[in-house]
Formats: sequence, C-alpha cells, structure tokens
Amino acid sequence: MEKLIIAPSVLAADFANLQNETLMLNASQAQWIHIDVMDGVFVPNISFGFPVLQAIKKHSTKFLDVHLMIEKPERYLKQFAEAGAQMITVHLEACPHIHRTIQEIKELGCKAGVAINPGTPVSLLQDIIADLDLVLVMSVNPGFGGQKFIAKSIDKVAEAKRLILSTGKDIYLEVDGGVSIQNATSLISAGANVLVAGSFVFSSSNPQETISQLVQLSQ
Ligand code: DX5
Ligand code: ZN
Repeated sequence: MEKLIIAPSVLAADFANLQNETLMLNASQAQWIHIDVMDGVFVPNISFGFPVLQAIKKHSTKFLDVHLMIEKPERYLKQFAEAGAQMITVHLEACPHIHRTIQEIKELGCKAGVAINPGTPVSLLQDIIADLDLVLVMSVNPGFGGQKFIAKSIDKVAEAKRLILSTGKDIYLEVDGGVSIQNATSLISAGANVLVAGSFVFSSSNPQETISQLVQLSQ
C-alpha cells in the first residue's frame, strides 16, 4: 500500500500559539496539515478564513489541505489558492455546479477534492470521480471537532475505494471526524490513505508521538 498520510486538523490547535503549533507539525511525521474553514451557514459553526490560512502558510513546510465547509465555495477559490491552499476540498452538498467548481480548482493550480456528509451516498460521486484528486468521506456531521466517529463510515470508505479503483486512477481517499487509533486500522483496511485527526492529536500529551503512532499503522 501507498504510504498512509496523516493530516492533523489545526481546528484543535491552540490558536493563540499558531506559530509554535505549525512548527511542531513541521517537525512531526504528519505529511499534510488539515485546515477547516466553516462559514456558519453550511455548518452551524464559524472557524476561520484567509488570515489564519496565510499565517499557517508563512511557517508551514507541509502540504496544506484545505477543507471548505462553506456554501457556494466557488466564490472564494482564487483567494484560498492565493492564501496557500494546495488541496482544496469542497462539499458536494454545497456546490450547485460541482463539475465546474472542480475544473476551477485545478485551473488555479491546486489539487481538487470533494467531501460528502454522512447522509450523502457515495454513488453521487460517480459522474465526477475521474476528475478528482481526493474523495473525503466525513465520519461525523461537519461543524465541530471532538465528535463521535460514525461507525457506518467504514462501509462508505470501502464503497468509495471501489469507486476509485474503477477509474484506474490514483485518487486519495481521506476520512475526517472522530479518527483515533481505535478506528484507524479499520479505516486503512477499508481503503483510506489520508486520515485527518484533530482532537486525538492535539488533546494527547505528546502530539508528535501520537502522529508517529498513526503513521506507523500502515507499516
Ligand atoms: C469537522 C472537521 C474536522 C475536525 C476533526 O467538521 O471537518 O476536520 O476538525 O476533528 P476531530 O478529529 O476532533 O473529530
Ligand atoms: Zn475537516
């Protein structure tokens, strides 16, 4: 199997200490940093936007994986790309013209991902899957860190994996929400190769060690 990618979510980081948190992640085995943008409309919470992404970008040596939980994200793609996003993931449920939005992300020089909520079937990705760099299966209802993992997500990951294999293309399969050492092995067996972890990493006594533990699961 291709190496497992761990993407710690800075939503669970200490925002007053973002430079040190970013440097800590630089020195860790995490390959990506996951950045959760929430607009208070698509999800019932507001997180942060461009200035925080730019601040992380300034110090980060990692790949910046930006998860947009916002309505009609096509309005802001250029600004996210300019602020440092390398992967831009939009929600299928938030995009009336998802095909066009994916093309726009790629034209900006970013990789394109599409996320699906727990209530959205994997089959809705069928007509766009071959255009994607990443599929994100949400394993909680988006909006907050620290929620309980929805076990049914493991079946959805397996289904998404089958869909990806049918394209013959290299497409990342990411899982986000309630990921911990308890469910990571099942998710990897089902086909996930990018694991987002927020509270599991940042609430642990040694985040770098926790990241290493997750990275080693695939070895
Ligand atoms: C949820 C966000 C997640 C969140 C994950 O809406 O998309 O990325 O930060 O946090 P944990 O790992 O604590 O569930
Ligand atoms: Zn996320």
